[in-house]
Amino acid sequence: MRTVTLIRGDGIGPEIIESTKEVVASTGVNIIWEEFDAGIKSFEKSGTVLPDELIKSIEKNKIALKGPITTPIGEGFRSINVLLRQKFETFANVRPVKSFRGVDSKFKNVDMVVIRENTEDLYAGIEHKISNYAAESIKLITREASRRIADYAFSFAAKNNRKKVTAVHKANIMKLTDGLFLEEARKVAKEYSNIEYEEVIIDNMCMQMVLKPEKYDVLLCPNLYGDILSDLAAGLVGGLGVVPSANLGKVAIFEAVHGSAPDIAGKNIANPIAIILSAAFMLEYIGNEYEANLIKKAVEKVLEDGKYLTPDLGGTATTNMMTNELIKIIQSIRSEDNWRKNNC
Ligand code: NAI
Repeated sequence: MRTVTLIRGDGIGPEIIESTKEVVASTGVNIIWEEFDAGIKSFEKSGTVLPDELIKSIEKNKIALKGPITTPIGEGFRSINVLLRQKFETFANVRPVKSFRGVDSKFKNVDMVVIRENTEDLYAGIEHKISNYAAESIKLITREASRRIADYAFSFAAKNNRKKVTAVHKANIMKLTDGLFLEEARKVAKEYSNIEYEEVIIDNMCMQMVLKPEKYDVLLCPNLYGDILSDLAAGLVGGLGVVPSANLGKVAIFEAVHGSAPDIAGKNIANPIAIILSAAFMLEYIGNEYEANLIKKAVEKVLEDGKYLTPDLGGTATTNMMTNELIKIIQSIRSEDNWRKNNC
């Protein structure tokens, strides 16, 4: 049994979170969800966008699954994602990107994981106006944060039987900042003699990824390049609707990469796959590999069969129809596995 903090989110959040809970339950894993709202929904109820009880729940459980949350543009509260990232120092953003048969995409053989440093670089937000005609932003790269993300990328590669880590940089121009990032990556690479290590300049990397994405395995990126490459990678496999992610640090927060999709909220047509795959990623992280694999196999089958696809994937199925099909497949794999266990 494991207790997990669950943030329902808004827009399509509650619909896809409901679907995820049902799919996770169908694997037989015993998860107790501690449910909370955040953002505008929480503000309307309690006057705060990030309630204390939610923070305490994440501190206690150390694991959370999060639905998408709307961030007002230009005014209102700050992004809940940024607040959570700062509060829990989730220094690693991890996005596995894989091709699925049945999903319309340019490439059929992508299987890479983008690992992005999440706390510094140009995202440290150190910027100021010099005059009315110029503004300056500081690119902060520290040895400690570079080492921490490189350590994570290589240990992830080792644990997941991945063969190669590619560090992405522009150290030919930003010799000190990206140079320091590479220095730490090289030191860590030496500790993993059975994992190939290579360095690719960001502009070349963009071209290589759209020409031959199958060449890449684990990408180790400073914040800005990681942000851009992770969306580029999602585009290679058919978009954000099938890509999960994790933010890892003092705690682990799993979420879909897409937003709250207000244009389709409440219509029962949202694609729940990205958040369901994020839940599978979470189960793997907490050691429930069998259940995680059940979910991944069911997703592969639903996408390949193509009968229960939501409109964003070119189908006409509702969220509920796709969810029920996933559950049916999971139940059938489980009963086959049980039969084999008892009869072989
Ligand atoms: P979005 O990802 O919500 O929507 C972009 C387009 O993709 C829309 O046409 C939407 O209908 C479609 N879409 C997204 N997810 C889908 C799904 N699961 N199934 C079917 N179609 C889907 O991005 P947008 O419109 O830029 O942002 C909307 C709100 O979400 C904003 O307030 C933004 O700040 C927030 N957001 C929140 C995130 C989070 O909580 N992690 C991440 C990204 C955006």
